[in-house]
Amino acid sequence: MECSSSPLPLFLLLLLSLSLSISATSATSAESPSSGNTTIYDILPKYGLPPGIFPDTVTSFSLSEDGALSVNLSGPCQVEFDYLVSFDATITGVLRYGVLDCLKGIQARRFLIWFDIDRIKVDLPPTNYIYFDVGWITRKLGVDQFLTIHSCKSSCRVSRTINGAFQWAKDFVTDLFW
Ligand SMILES: *[C@@H]1O[C@H](CO)[C@@H](O)[C@H](O)[C@H]1NC(C)=O
Ligand SMILES: *[C@@H]1O[C@H](CO)[C@@H](O)[C@H](O)[C@H]1NC(C)=O
Repeated sequence: MECSSSPLPLFLLLLLSLSLSISATSATSAESPSSGNTTIYDILPKYGLPPGIFPDTVTSFSLSEDGALSVNLSGPCQVEFDYLVSFDATITGVLRYGVLDCLKGIQARRFLIWFDIDRIKVDLPPTNYIYFDVGWITRKLGVDQFLTIHSCKSSCRVSRTINGAFQWAKDFVTDLFW
């Protein structure tokens, strides 16, 4: 009785430990490719931001430890949010919790004028809103439209952004229209 019963639990124990080690290795191998292949759409929610800020045409991105973010799209293009938003082929900025700061390469159109978006931020804790900053002026938009990832239409933009040479005009126009 004792002899016949003792090998069985031992065998079961072996089987159990074997299956445990298999499930452990399969769990880690399932995790490592996704963390090695993380997309920008996975990164943004980790910073409290909605994934759909960037369109579906992202080809590559880099994020350094200090938060410096660089995103490449397949080309310049536009997405129709509450505002028509135009993306350059390369967008740079600084990613911190709840904010994409020091942005270069995203513009939004309002009254036929393109404004450089300097900052995109959310409330902490998150609310239903997201904010687009042009200079020190902020526009509030519904966050829902940024929860899905939009396709991006290639752009042939006619009107241009008001650039730095006319900073005073830009400030004036921003006050008036943005
Ligand atoms: C990870 O990247 C490889 C090669 O770039 C790709 O084939 C694969 O589909 C990606 N996996 C996921 C989960 O995105
Ligand atoms: C984005 O594209 C530029 C120019 O093609 C390239 O130099 C840069 O390394 C790219 N960045 C990333 C993050 O792939």
